[in-house]
Amino acid sequence: MSDETPKRILLGQKEKVDRDFIHAFLDKIGGFSVIGVASAADLIQKLRQNPDLILVDPKIEGNILKAAELIRRMPKLNHVGLAIVTADLSDYDRCKGKGFDGIIEKPFTPKGLLAKVWKILESTPPLPGDGTPAKLEVDIEGIEGLPTLPSVYAQVEKLCEDPDVDADDLAKVIETDPSITMKLLKLSNSAFFGFNREIKSVKDSVSLLGNQTVKNAVLSISVFEATKGMDTSGGLDLKEFWRHSAACGSVVKFIAKKMRIDREESFTAGILHDIGKVILNGLYSQFYESVLKAVAEKQISIIEAEESVLGVIHTKLGQELAESWGIPARLIEAIASHHRPGRSERDPELASLVHIADAVSRNLAVGSGGDALVPAIHPFAFNQLAVTAEDLVEWEQEMVEGIEKDMAFLAATA
Ligand SMILES: [Fe+2]
Ligand SMILES: [Fe+2]
Repeated sequence: MSDETPKRILLGQKEKVDRDFIHAFLDKIGGFSVIGVASAADLIQKLRQNPDLILVDPKIEGNILKAAELIRRMPKLNHVGLAIVTADLSDYDRCKGKGFDGIIEKPFTPKGLLAKVWKILESTPPLPGDGTPAKLEVDIEGIEGLPTLPSVYAQVEKLCEDPDVDADDLAKVIETDPSITMKLLKLSNSAFFGFNREIKSVKDSVSLLGNQTVKNAVLSISVFEATKGMDTSGGLDLKEFWRHSAACGSVVKFIAKKMRIDREESFTAGILHDIGKVILNGLYSQFYESVLKAVAEKQISIIEAEESVLGVIHTKLGQELAESWGIPARLIEAIASHHRPGRSERDPELASLVHIADAVSRNLAVGSGGDALVPAIHPFAFNQLAVTAEDLVEWEQEMVEGIEKDMAFLAATA
């Protein structure tokens, strides 16, 4: 950028009088290119104009803290200056450590305002208090309201590291969580597994299904438990979403079996692959609404809309979330790479399975992943699995039947 190009400032002010004055001043006297924003949602929308600085009144409509969290997760905008403009110092306490770089206190003189703006533009601010350089990205653990898995899952995961873990020990741990226990029993007796005798205890379930299957079932149930209370006002239809996820899992399982690929976690990979969407929709509902609107208006895929409207995509956020949950690396890979299986380093096989199953379940129109498009399958995935498009056509009827049966998973657990 040449020196003559004016710096771009996104300016969000609650009061019209401030908005007009600061806007005119920064524009006419300061020589900046100023873009006015009216709300937190509007701020996220206008980020596409690549601002050099964001000045915002924290009392602007919408949740500005959530907007800051998102901005700090955007690879392209992670380092843009973000300062609050306020007369209320309690605003600063509220915003401190949440991704903001500075404060412009009201009242200010015009000269004072300009000096402050340039200071923020030119400096990397220190972290409040300790003087070390700012780490602008907000850690995933720093995101407010991030769902955590029931503690039973981590204990089950740990126990299952030992392949010879005693069924009794595993059952005892699971039984400390009544809700997971109930759902696991319901699932064990459902058409999903299709046993012809009643399974009455968790121990019975572990003996019949095996440790790994039980562990994966506990993971899926834990994810349902952790996310069930989330905000749904973003507009993602969660019922249809989980149907899409289960259909995807069913197809992963089906193809793995056909190709004699032994993957215990295949169904779970499908259940979890789009988990990032639940988080975006649940924690950033006011912004995710615009994503779904863009999907409807422009007929683009949800991941494209996330990229262009939010600057944060479900695969990336899902990956970070899954890492914070400590779930197995292979599943993390499937979450992170299901749209680009060729980029998977640790498990291109599972990423390819999920990639194909995602497209197949969309093609069969079971549930909804948030948009109605059927993505093209990358040749990488076909090659990786030695599966062809003709195979998929030939298997269609069997896959449809498998999906129907596997929906029993949701009926028992979700
Ligand atoms: Fe996806
Ligand atoms: Fe999907």
